[in-house]
This record gives sequence, C-alpha cells and structure tokens, in this order.
Amino acid sequence: MRILHFSDIHVDVSPHLVPFRDWIGKRLVGGANHILRRGKHFRRTREKLAALGAFADEHEIDLAICTGDYTILGTEVELAAAREAVEPITKRPLGYVTVPGNHDVYLHDTIRERRFDKYFGEFLRNDLPDLASADGWPLVRLFGDHLAVVAVRSARPNPQVWRSSGMIEPGELAAMQRIVRDPRVRDRFVIVATHYALRRPDGRPDGRNHGLENAEAMLTALAELPRGCVLHGHIHERFRLRLPGVRPTILGAGSATHEGEEGFWMLELDGDGGSATPGWFDGKGYRLDTAETVSIS
Ligand SMILES: [Fe+2]
Ligand SMILES: [Fe+2]
Repeated sequence: MRILHFSDIHVDVSPHLVPFRDWIGKRLVGGANHILRRGKHFRRTREKLAALGAFADEHEIDLAICTGDYTILGTEVELAAAREAVEPITKRPLGYVTVPGNHDVYLHDTIRERRFDKYFGEFLRNDLPDLASADGWPLVRLFGDHLAVVAVRSARPNPQVWRSSGMIEPGELAAMQRIVRDPRVRDRFVIVATHYALRRPDGRPDGRNHGLENAEAMLTALAELPRGCVLHGHIHERFRLRLPGVRPTILGAGSATHEGEEGFWMLELDGDGGSATPGWFDGKGYRLDTAETVSIS
C-alpha cells in the first residue's frame, strides 16, 4: 500500500477577493505580512499541486494524507481555492484523510462558521466514533486488516499576533489513550496524523508560542503504540525523528509548496510495517529520493 503524506500548502488568493468582513484583528497583520514577506514563497502553489496530483497518479498512491495549513488566513475564499487545488490528489483508491492546520482555523470566525468542515468535511469520517471525545475527535479510519489512520486535531484559533501554538484538547487526548489501547486499533500499523510537530527537527521541544503545548503528553500516549508512525506538518522542513522510549517514527512533511523547501513523504506499507521515502520538487515535478528511504517498521 502506498501513502502520500504532504502538508502546509498555503494556497493564497488575491487580497481583493477576501470579503471586507474578514479583515479583522490578526488577519490584518497576517495579510500584510503575507503580501510583504511570505507570499513570495508560495507563488507557484497551484501549479505545484497539479504536479503533486500527477506524481500521485504516476506512483499509484492508494491513500493521501494532508496534515493541514491549506490556507494563509482561514478565509472561505482560500479554503474553496485550496479544496479545488487538491481535488486531483484526493482521488485515491482508498481516499484522503486530513486535519486542519492553525492557518485553516486562523480566528474564531472559522470555527463559528465551520468553514473547514464545509470544504473538507467529506474527508473527516470516523470508523470508530465510540472512541472519540465529545467533540468527535480523533477520527479513526480502518483500511483493510492491517492499517489504522488516526487523525488528531491539534490546531486552534490564535487571535494573539505573536502566537501560533497548538493544543490537543484534554478530552481528545484521553480519547487518544483509549484508541491506542483498543484491540480494533492496536494490532494494526497505526499512522497518527496531526498538524503540529511533537518535537523540533533536532529533537528538542518546539517554542512556547509556536509548538504544541501538550506535545509531551501526546508522546506519552503514543509511547504505548507497538507499531506505527506519526505524520505532521507546521514546521516547514521535512525531517524524520526517532525518540527514546517512543516506538513510532515521527515524520515531518515540511511544506509541499514552500519555494526552495518543498518536501513530502511517500510511505510503502506491507503487513507489519514498511518504509518511508522523502520527496522533493525539481522545479517542474515531484521526485523521490530513494537513496534516503528509511524503515518505519
Ligand atoms: Fe504552515
Ligand atoms: Fe502551521
């Protein structure tokens, strides 16, 4: 089974397409920052996503997983544009699994209006809702007899300009503990997909205003998993991490579209485990670096 993991595509739209009512609070600062500084890194995003769709077809990807940050400011026009841009990638035989990133739930209006659900709700199904929190997370998807994908929501609105940190709600973390112990899940290879990194590429905790606030509690819950891996985004650098006492390999996809930093992972799974191969962008299309394939069994 082949799985494509990508993240942080940050599809933007021309600012004049964003309705006047959306230009509030942090969005004014974030929008200006994007226009003046960050935007240049994501200019070819749509073209790159078309190329990533072609890659997925060519490599016969069975399942695609995106760990969020589809947009810059969490506006409806951006979510609609991103949904359209990833459409070819979602058309996999086993489907598509995703979670929102902090940019997709930028301010509280995104939650109030359920904007992410409106555009990506069809990919937020749950095969084991009895294990979820009262809010319905995490989502568990069972594929065949050997694979479970657990989608964990770690992003929340951050109205403060200086903060882009995340948190897994306590109820969801408790549900996570139930999930990793449940016999319907724990005998499988378990892929945990979430937006926030559990650690930085050097293995140290991420900063207080940028990282996942309860990353250590999540690592404790994951330590019980006998076989699996963690897929995440948020840090725009593709990397792999093994931590003492935690069996699952941690794979950060970086950003699939950040100019000059493009990255992703392709996983190949058999019954008990498999391998992960990093991918990159050569200016025209996405390619695999097969010399860097690692075991994730
Ligand atoms: Fe991002
Ligand atoms: Fe992020």
